[in-house]
Amino acid sequence: MAQDTLLKGRVLSFTGSPFEAEPEDAVQVNEAVVLSGGRIAAVGGAQDLARAHPGAEVTDHGEKLILAGFVDAHVHYPQTAMIASWGKRLIDWLNSYTFPEEMKFAAPDYAAGIAARYLDLTAAHGTTTMCSFCTIHPESVDAFFAEAQSRGQRVVAGKTCMDRNAPEGLRDTVRTAYDQSKALLQKWHGVDRLSYAITPRFSPTSTPEQLEAMGALWAEHPDCLMQTHLSEQTDEIEWVRSLFPSARDYLDTYESFGLLGGRGLYGHAIHLEPRERDRLREVDAALIHCPTSNTFIGSGLFDMAGLMSRGHRIGLATDTGGGSSFSMLRTMAAAYEIGQLRGVPLHSAQLLWLATVGSARALRMDDAIGNVAAGMEADLVVLDLASTPAIAQRSERAQDLWEAVFPTIMMGDDRAVAEVWIGGRRVTG
Ligand code: GUN
Ligand code: ZN
Repeated sequence: MAQDTLLKGRVLSFTGSPFEAEPEDAVQVNEAVVLSGGRIAAVGGAQDLARAHPGAEVTDHGEKLILAGFVDAHVHYPQTAMIASWGKRLIDWLNSYTFPEEMKFAAPDYAAGIAARYLDLTAAHGTTTMCSFCTIHPESVDAFFAEAQSRGQRVVAGKTCMDRNAPEGLRDTVRTAYDQSKALLQKWHGVDRLSYAITPRFSPTSTPEQLEAMGALWAEHPDCLMQTHLSEQTDEIEWVRSLFPSARDYLDTYESFGLLGGRGLYGHAIHLEPRERDRLREVDAALIHCPTSNTFIGSGLFDMAGLMSRGHRIGLATDTGGGSSFSMLRTMAAAYEIGQLRGVPLHSAQLLWLATVGSARALRMDDAIGNVAAGMEADLVVLDLASTPAIAQRSERAQDLWEAVFPTIMMGDDRAVAEVWIGGRRVTG
């Protein structure tokens, strides 16, 4: 039996949603956390826990913040190597940069190499779970799940299905999309900490017949998540309108094929019609905010305050590599900046909640990850709130925790990540 671990520091847990209460009232700070057998055994006072777990290996992190590992609710791991590609908007960006890179994932060795690189980079940035699109190649899904499995990591992923408006070599068919998705689902879903998400890329790259087949597969496997993109750019919405002339709106191109549901994850969701908003709320689908992507590709300003006030389920994500960073800290900063442009600044507690509990709720995994509480899986990040001279000179004059953490949210990067724990095992630091 592996030895228990006792980490001392400022251990941050959420007791509620900081969007529903005063943000600071939704948070509890304890002195220590005990990890045992891959789970969090206890959270509480340092002396009490030390007494109750006399054999535990103790590390004192002092003033550092210990919180749940970050959960990135929408990424494309195959876009790791072409992140930060210059000067295009969505459709040109896909054709110029994304599709040529995704083509390379037909080669299992290439896919395995990028999967390992991506999981190294994200662990270094404190991200312990992500929900990833792969490419149309089953090999790209196998590579990602195999790598995550070897690291004991909780991840969600799926084969990205496209049967039109993509280059030769990056298109499947109605039949192969269904058959390959089903085979991958049966191979990986529920194995160790891995989950499969049915993944039609977005309606412009699927025929109605392929969307229908994806809807049928989801109906056969309703415990799976389904991930796609929705209303990211206005040009894209016009394109969807011309491709699906009888659809009521963009969401209807999913809804009418069985691709709207509570376990659905809709990336971006910026330019929503009232009907779309109402239907998404009615079924309690998850909207995934990808702020660095939305500014980088020039998509628009997500309505966090408006959607939260209507009770939407919202996760936060990098959208690597349309997003311009692997860091959920940088992603929180961008969410803050978009909030400012909309006139509603987000509190640090709300930003941290979105990057942990919020994204875990979006993935319907908040009973297992995203918070520091007894019984949860032991995925943790330890943040140094004085990781660079620029941050330290600001945080040292902080009057409270929130003033101490905000400079790290706004200016922090992987240097702020002192330690990362995945499934009770320390992976960096
Ligand atoms: N819409 C369809 N595919 C993609 C993608 O790969 N990235 C982003 N940002 N939007 C998309
Ligand atoms: Zn995306």
